[in-house]
Amino acid sequence: MFETLKPSPPDKIIELLEMFRADPRTEKLDLGVGVYKDANGKTPVMRAVKAAEKRLLDTQDSKSYVGILGDLEFVKLLGELALGSSVPADRIAGAQTPGGTGAIRQILELIKRSNPAATVWYSDPTWPNHPAMLAHLGIPSRTYRYFDAATGGVDFAAMMADLVAMKPGDVLLLHGCCHNPTGANLTLEQWAEVTDFVVKAGVVPFIDLAYQGFGDGLEADAAGVRHMAAAVPEMLLAVSCSKNFGLYRDRVGAAIAISETAEKSAITKANLASLSRLNFSFPPDHGAKVVALILSDPALKADWQAELESMRAGMLELRKGLANELRRATNSDRFDFVGTHRGMFSRLGLSPEQVVKLREDFGIYAVGDSRINIAGLPAQGLGKLAAAIASVES
Ligand code: LMR
Repeated sequence: MFETLKPSPPDKIIELLEMFRADPRTEKLDLGVGVYKDANGKTPVMRAVKAAEKRLLDTQDSKSYVGILGDLEFVKLLGELALGSSVPADRIAGAQTPGGTGAIRQILELIKRSNPAATVWYSDPTWPNHPAMLAHLGIPSRTYRYFDAATGGVDFAAMMADLVAMKPGDVLLLHGCCHNPTGANLTLEQWAEVTDFVVKAGVVPFIDLAYQGFGDGLEADAAGVRHMAAAVPEMLLAVSCSKNFGLYRDRVGAAIAISETAEKSAITKANLASLSRLNFSFPPDHGAKVVALILSDPALKADWQAELESMRAGMLELRKGLANELRRATNSDRFDFVGTHRGMFSRLGLSPEQVVKLREDFGIYAVGDSRINIAGLPAQGLGKLAAAIASVES
């Protein structure tokens, strides 16, 4: 049977992670996969997570199945964290999923089930797993322009010009905040304009929210999402707890669907449940329980928010530091966008050859499109890094 299999190209981000691990050089630097690291290069277990895990260990008295949609308290609390009070609760249906990828996958299957003719429109560029999953599921897709390589910002005029070709019922995939891979984000005014477009065109927004709290703060990062949620009849939302709770390996996320009415929401919910059953039956419990404990306990929540905020502030500091060093190393302001971007990533605008040179000559690992992980930047080595970038660039 397996002789019919064709070689399967690896995901570029995962491939890079493996290359980095296999590199014997001690002076290497991993700016590839989107994982938060502290000043010592470690990915810590957050304090509130440790405390909640201890509590869970002491109090959990069964490992029997949870419900097919997971822990509904977790789904509700995570939905509130993302959506605030922008939508009445009876229009929201959600399912706990294995990570943000699991949430995206379930939502894509829901789209396919409800409207197989829908085309999903995603930004060029986007997280590579978006188009990969769309292709795998055979869902029609198209891109819209998003990034202006010349300025390092969003080419909003080009984006809106491309969206005009969307048909009613098509799906518009947006990054809720901290755009991956570019780091360039819509302003609130632009979110409002896209919302007006979505309503008039009758298209369905699908928001991937994987970095809430990593950009301008928990509330600010959700402002665009909430504005849109309050205005549209239907919306899809994939939430990840990998980054903001640091629960990468525990696979914690939620697929959330906003329907037009409570009656329709009940049907959406039943469909989410059936799709879970078809893919994995019950979602993994541990990390979701930890998140539910944190979000429902004021002291744990406050401590989680404080630690998240210090992670965010640290990344912002590193961004500003690298932008300054790049200014010095290149004697120009052309990398200033690194300081104004938000979230875990920035796209530097280097060619694939220059990215390879960075890796081979300096042991600096960036994704092939020149995306760097800001959390991986060395606070004490920003000057050296900027000099390396400037040298491959010239
Ligand atoms: C990334 O973009 O590096 C992260 O979202 C990790 C992943 O799964 O690709």
